[in-house]
Amino acid sequence: MLCMKRTLILYYSFEGNSEWAATCLAEKLGEQADIERLIVRREPPKRGFFKFLIGGRSAIKGIDPGLNELTLNPADYQQIVLFFPIWAGTFAPAIGALLKKYPLEGKTVHLVASSASGSEGRAFDNIAAALNGSKIASSVCLRLPGSNRAEAEEKLSQLADALKA
Ligand SMILES: Cc1cc2nc3c(=O)[nH]c(=O)nc-3n(C[C@H](O)[C@H](O)[C@H](O)COP(=O)(O)O)c2cc1C
Repeated sequence: MLCMKRTLILYYSFEGNSEWAATCLAEKLGEQADIERLIVRREPPKRGFFKFLIGGRSAIKGIDPGLNELTLNPADYQQIVLFFPIWAGTFAPAIGALLKKYPLEGKTVHLVASSASGSEGRAFDNIAAALNGSKIASSVCLRLPGSNRAEAEEKLSQLADALKA
């Protein structure tokens, strides 16, 4: 019989912080988790004024950035851990696209946001509203984890312990 892993880590990262944090958690869980990056077809410019203007607007308006098919199927896992950046006080549009395409019904979901301020704004409430029939088991917001690694690692170790329990 095929033995499924319990935990799937899905992450979207525009500037590397969520990627660092997701990879850090994956290393802590080792064989117990799979990990996949969310790839979108449309992103804001990487720098300059329009990065924030276009990115922030797309998050507030919930504009669909066009999510590529995942190679792993979330339906095969019990626990889903979502890593994502905060844009304009809410989740980056890749997460909205994910929830639309893969509803995560019946899953236990853990949220890990990254932001410059350390605050998640309205992101967790907005995701809770978008999730249908799944339970948010934990949520944490990391302050620029790629640059504040010790602080982030402590929180990620606690999450790893909860996921293993
Ligand atoms: C378009 C855009 C909007 C942002 N809006 C916010 C915000 O409202 N609050 C905040 O604290 N940080 C904001 N940031 C900073 C990011 O949340 C932060 O740098 C995060 O760690 C980036 O994660 P990533 O490196 O995985 O993309 C914004 C960044 C971008 C690109």
